[in-house]
Amino acid sequence: MGRYRIGVATGAWLFSGSHNRVQLWLVGARGEARLELRLRPARGQEEEFERDVPKDLGPLQFVKLRKHHSLVDDAWFCDCITVRGPGACEEATFFPCYRWVQGQDVLSLPEGTARLAGDNALDVFQKHREKELKERRRLYCWATWKEGLPRTIAAERQDDLPPNSRFHEEKRLDFEWALKAGALETVLKRVYTLLSSWSRLEDFDQIFWGQKSDLAERVHRCWRDDELFGYQFLNGANPMVLRRSASLPSRLVLPSGTEALGAQLERELQSGSLFEADFSLLDGIPANVIRGEKQYLAAPLVMLQMRPEGKLLPVVIQIQPPSPSCPAPPLFLPSDPPLAWLLAKIWVRNSDFQVHQLQYHLLSTHLVAEVIAVATMRCLPGLHPVFKLLIPHIRYTLEINTRARSQLISEGGIFDKAVSTGGGGHVHLLRRAMAQLTYRSLCPPDDLAARGLLGIPSALYAHDALRLWEIIARDDVVRGDPELQAWCREITEVGLCQAQDRAQVTDAPNPPQHGGPIRPGPQPGWDVPGSRWGSRALLVVIFLHAIQTG
Ligand SMILES: [Fe+2]
Repeated sequence: MGRYRIGVATGAWLFSGSHNRVQLWLVGARGEARLELRLRPARGQEEEFERDVPKDLGPLQFVKLRKHHSLVDDAWFCDCITVRGPGACEEATFFPCYRWVQGQDVLSLPEGTARLAGDNALDVFQKHREKELKERRRLYCWATWKEGLPRTIAAERQDDLPPNSRFHEEKRLDFEWALKAGALETVLKRVYTLLSSWSRLEDFDQIFWGQKSDLAERVHRCWRDDELFGYQFLNGANPMVLRRSASLPSRLVLPSGTEALGAQLERELQSGSLFEADFSLLDGIPANVIRGEKQYLAAPLVMLQMRPEGKLLPVVIQIQPPSPSCPAPPLFLPSDPPLAWLLAKIWVRNSDFQVHQLQYHLLSTHLVAEVIAVATMRCLPGLHPVFKLLIPHIRYTLEINTRARSQLISEGGIFDKAVSTGGGGHVHLLRRAMAQLTYRSLCPPDDLAARGLLGIPSALYAHDALRLWEIIARDDVVRGDPELQAWCREITEVGLCQAQDRAQVTDAPNPPQHGGPIRPGPQPGWDVPGSRWGSRALLVVIFLHAIQTG
C-alpha cells in the first residue's frame, strides 16, 4: 500500500541496451508485487522509477528480476537495486546484484545485509543460499592443469568461463591494449637495433626509450652499483628470497686462499648482520632452447652484509652449487675485475627473475588466489559476510589466470618463446615451489619472522607488508561457521591438493635471536586448526590481491 521508489544501477549492456524491458518483483514478508520497468541504454548510471503497489508487502526480503526476451538477447549487467518506500519512508533497502542478467530466467536478489546460514529450514534466505550454491557448483568446477600444481577453474580459454567472471569491456580493452603496446615497443626496438652490434654496456641505451618511469631512470643510472643490487633483495620486485643467515650455508665451499673471506663471514654471522639469497630451487631445472639457441640457467647463492646504516651489500656470489664435476665452484667477489663481478650480479638478477615470476608471482599470488576464488564461488553464498568481503578481491582472478594458462605459460606460449625457464622448465620449477609452499609462508608476520627480517629499519617491504596485514586483520571473521569450514576444506583438500597433510619445509633453519623479535619454535606448514585457517586465509587472499594490484 503506497508508492515505492526503485533505483536501478546499470553497469553495462552487452550491445546497445536500447529500451529494454525488465520485470521486477518486490518480495516482502507479507506479499509480493510485479512491476514493469523500461530501462534506458545507460551505462554506469542509476535510473529511478516510481510505482504504486496496492497491497502491504511488509519488510522487503528479495527483489526478483527478469529481462524481457526480444529477438536479440541483450545481456544487462545490473549493479544493484535500491528500493525506498512505501510512501514517504526514506530508508532504502539495498539489493546488490553485480551480475549479468540475460536469458529467460528469473534472478533472485536477497536484501543485502550479510547473514550466516540459519538453523531454521523455513528461513527464506536459507533456501536461497542452498539453491545459489547448487547453481554455482555447477558453473564453477575444478580442473587439473598440471599434476603437482594447485587445481584451477575448469576452463580451457577465457570464453569458457562463467560470464560473471569475465573481464568487463573496459578491463578487456585496457588489458589487450597494454599487451599490444608492449609488443609493438619490442618490435620497434628490434627493428631499431637490427643493424647495430652491441659491444659495450652503454649500447643498452639503444633500447632505453619508450615507456619509462622515474624509477626506471634511477635504476638506469645506478644498476651496476652494489648498493642497488643489495637494496633490491630488501625492497625490489622480489623481496621474498632474502633471509638472515643462521649458519654458513653448506653449499658455500671456501677454498684455501679465502681465509679472510671466511673470517669476515663468520664475524658478520656472529653479529647477526649476515644475510643470504639462495636460488637452489633452480638447480637442475632444464633450460629452454629459443629459435635453436640453447639457453642457460644458474642457481646462485649471494651472501650479503647489513651495514650499520642499513645498506645491504653483497660480499660473495657463488653462481652454481657444488657438484661432483665441480666440488668447489668459483666464487665472485666485489674485488674481482669490474666486468666479472658485474656479470656475476647479472646472473643473480636473471635467476631472481625466474624465481620471482614463477614461485612468488605465478604460484603464490595468482594460482593460490585462484584456488580461493573457485572455493569461494563453490562454498560461500552471496549473503555470507566473507563472500561480500572477498568478492572485490577475486574479481578477474579467473580470467587473468585462464589467459595466462592459454597464452603465457602454455605450450608455445610467451614463456616458451622468450624465457630461459620456458619449454617445460617452468612447470618443473613450479612443482618444486609448490612442494615447498607452506601456509605460514603466505602470512607476512610468520614469513618475515622465519626469514629474520623483522626489526630492520631499511626493510621497507617488511614494514609495508606488516602495516597492510594489521589493517586487514582488524576485520574479524566468523569462526566455526559450517559454510566457512566447507570453504576451508575445499581450499586445502581440493584446490591445494591435500595441502593440510603436507609437512613443513625443514631445510630452513630458525633464525638467530638478534636484530628483532624473532619467534623461536617450529614453523608448521598447512597443519593449522580449521578455525584459524579460516580467518587467516581470508587475510591471505586480501593481502595477495593488495600486492598484486599495489
Ligand atoms: Fe600478476
